[in-house]
Amino acid sequence: MRPILIIANWKLNGNWSFNEEYASLFSNGLKEIDLTGRQIVICPPSIYLQQLNGLILDQEIYFGGQDLSDEISGAFTGEVSGVMLKEFGCRYVLVGHSERRLRHQESNELVVKKALNAIAAGLTPVICVGETLEQRQSKQMEEVLSAQVDSILQGLGEQVEQIVLAYEPIWAIGTGQTATAEQAQEVHGWLREKIGATNRSVAENLQMIYGGSVKSDNAKQLLEMPDIDGLLVGGASLVVPEFLSICQTGEVI
Ligand code: 13P
Repeated sequence: MRPILIIANWKLNGNWSFNEEYASLFSNGLKEIDLTGRQIVICPPSIYLQQLNGLILDQEIYFGGQDLSDEISGAFTGEVSGVMLKEFGCRYVLVGHSERRLRHQESNELVVKKALNAIAAGLTPVICVGETLEQRQSKQMEEVLSAQVDSILQGLGEQVEQIVLAYEPIWAIGTGQTATAEQAQEVHGWLREKIGATNRSVAENLQMIYGGSVKSDNAKQLLEMPDIDGLLVGGASLVVPEFLSICQTGEVI
């Protein structure tokens, strides 16, 4: 069985007072919902991890980083290592989010290096893959996703069983244009098949989550799909009632 994993990616949002109010509303809301069979993760900007960790005390809520350095320590100004994230209570870390691949030119090789560092630090890397609209329309989607996934499979070897894979079509991020549940399932199914060709049991156990304009009104259809094991939520995760509603969506089998 693959438990449902719901991850909030706050991106560059939040501030001291917003976080206080969010934590209070969220903690109160959690008392009303049953999270059995689900894992909920919040990825705030790393500077706020300590504050939020001290405010959201629910045992079932985990924290994650939004990125980590591909280096362990040294003269790398502005970077945060996996070990540091772990020390601040993280269990997960996003790796290779499209906003980093595009804005910071993160290559497939760099993404693998970061994922390996995350695993070495005791974190679960949530590795993001996805295609642009142009790539999808020009029928390059499989080629792009294959390159991303092949580099993960080759670079991580047996450690691939320690990751979460997030499919985030770039055209659906922050645009309000969600992939339909069927479109998302088609890619998730294809990804699982592809990974299964290398290692069937890894593919069967791999948690694969979808991200891109997830909201409370489309979360259920997405989670009903056989190969969608969770959701990576951006904008909607910043609105407490909306995020709580997403957290309790979906049947736990
Ligand atoms: P939105 O939910 O705002 O589209 O963002 C998706 C995302 O990039 C999560 O990592």
